[in-house]
Amino acid sequence: MTLNRALIWGALALTTVLSRCGGEDIVADHVGAYGGSFSQSYGPSGQYTFEFDGNEIFHVDLKKEETVWRLPGLSEFGSYDPQGGLRNMAVANQNLDFLIKLSNSTAAINEVPEVTVFPKAPVELSQPNTLICAVDNIFPPVINISWLSNGHSVTQGVSETSFLSKRDHSFLKISYLTFLPSVDDVYDCKVEHWGLDQPLLKHWEPEIPAPMSELTETVVCALGLAVGLVGIVTGTVFIIQGLRPGGASRNQGPL
Ligand SMILES: *[C@@H]1O[C@H](CO)[C@@H](O)[C@H](O)[C@H]1NC(C)=O
Ligand SMILES: *[C@@H]1O[C@H](CO)[C@@H](O)[C@H](O)[C@H]1NC(C)=O
Repeated sequence: MTLNRALIWGALALTTVLSRCGGEDIVADHVGAYGGSFSQSYGPSGQYTFEFDGNEIFHVDLKKEETVWRLPGLSEFGSYDPQGGLRNMAVANQNLDFLIKLSNSTAAINEVPEVTVFPKAPVELSQPNTLICAVDNIFPPVINISWLSNGHSVTQGVSETSFLSKRDHSFLKISYLTFLPSVDDVYDCKVEHWGLDQPLLKHWEPEIPAPMSELTETVVCALGLAVGLVGIVTGTVFIIQGLRPGGASRNQGPL
């Protein structure tokens, strides 16, 4: 398949990233990245993706051996045999051994991921919305992204993208949480990565303008009414004075 060849050989020419993660508690890890796809020696955590214009089109679930389209509608425009992805991963894994030797097991530094949390749509109370946790500058591509609501782990309504490749060979991964905004609920996106000393919690809570208290409302209303009444009275006095021929105001003039 030309697509496969293009992916493996074209991408191989583009990117050959090798890393070895230092640190005694971490199993030595090597990564061979081919655009969005990569193989690595840390567990069975390789990834076979097809991207277009920085967006994931599909990836092959290597465990379930099936093609997963990023958007459900896309599968109508084409099909992809997951076995092709598995074969390419086998080749990539072989290449990895070769590349490790070629690089003399060069050690690379764990990057510190950058985490941003924001809602998909403007937040309105009781309007279903989605929280987005974008984790950028991921390297190596081994990470745990999870969600907490009021400090408790949430798994319902959670989904995430594959590792999306960046030009600088790091990766971007986005996690989504569907939620119902409420003044009582706060959220955290939790990120675990070797580049962090401890799990990073990125906090988010809805910014809802405090509703006016009843007392404030009453005071504002009473003040408005008072000002209005004073206006009417003063106005009436002036009109009456103005209507009277030779009224008081004229008599008070400098003449
Ligand atoms: C490869 O690594 C070994 C041990 O770290 C070192 O002695 C050797 O000089 C390195 N070779 C090259 C070609 O960098
Ligand atoms: C991700 O979570 C698993 C299971 O809790 C843990 O074994 C692994 O070390 C975590 N990975 C990272 C990068 O912290």
